[in-house]
Amino acid sequence: MHELRDISCLDAFHDKTFDTFDAMVHGVQRAYARAREYAIAPQGWFVMFGNYGVGKTHLAAAIANELLRRQWQVLFAVVPDLLDHLRSTFGPSSEVEYDERAELVRNVPLLILDDLGTENTTAWAREKLFQIVNHRYNERLATVFTSNRRPEEIDPRIFSRMSDRALCEEHLLIDATDYRRRTLPQRRAAARPRR
Ligand SMILES: Nc1ncnc2c1ncn2[C@@H]1O[C@H](COP(=O)(O)OP(=O)(O)O)[C@@H](O)[C@H]1O
Ligand SMILES: [Mg+2]
Repeated sequence: MHELRDISCLDAFHDKTFDTFDAMVHGVQRAYARAREYAIAPQGWFVMFGNYGVGKTHLAAAIANELLRRQWQVLFAVVPDLLDHLRSTFGPSSEVEYDERAELVRNVPLLILDDLGTENTTAWAREKLFQIVNHRYNERLATVFTSNRRPEEIDPRIFSRMSDRALCEEHLLIDATDYRRRTLPQRRAAARPRR
């Protein structure tokens, strides 16, 4: 169990759960409900778009934390960091042929790819990311994506796979205001249990 947590990279997000998410915030209800459903038995891909601060990463981490709790093997990857890792480990001139982390990213039963589309990276790293996504597409492996970009800013090969309705029923667009701009009293009022 500890080991599953260690390899998940979820430490920084351990408090981002469904319980700590305020589902009453305007604009988040549908994504929250779908995320909860997805976490019951993840199948296919789960895709969330939306501006900064609307709760995409929180919901993605909530899915991951819930499955980790149920002993799934989960990996939370922030896309720009993942690409840095791949670049440093396997740059075109590197001799490393096998990397445990890269292998995990390809095949872990649940992968979170947080912040897709912000990667300002080399063609080589972009290709690596595409290969990972394509592998998970071909193998139909459960994957959660978040992005604050517009669809046309995503690698079209990746976006096309995300749009396969057999694998991903809908793209959730979270249209809410930046939660970080709420005052503390506003947050507390929202967090008070309702009856
Ligand atoms: N509905 C919500 N209830 C509780 N906290 C929220 C909610 N939406 C966002 N937050 C918090 O606001 C911050 C920004 O949210 P985050 O999920 O990182 O946004 P995004 O990934 O969409 O940019 C995080 O600390 C997150 O926990
Ligand atoms: Mg985020």
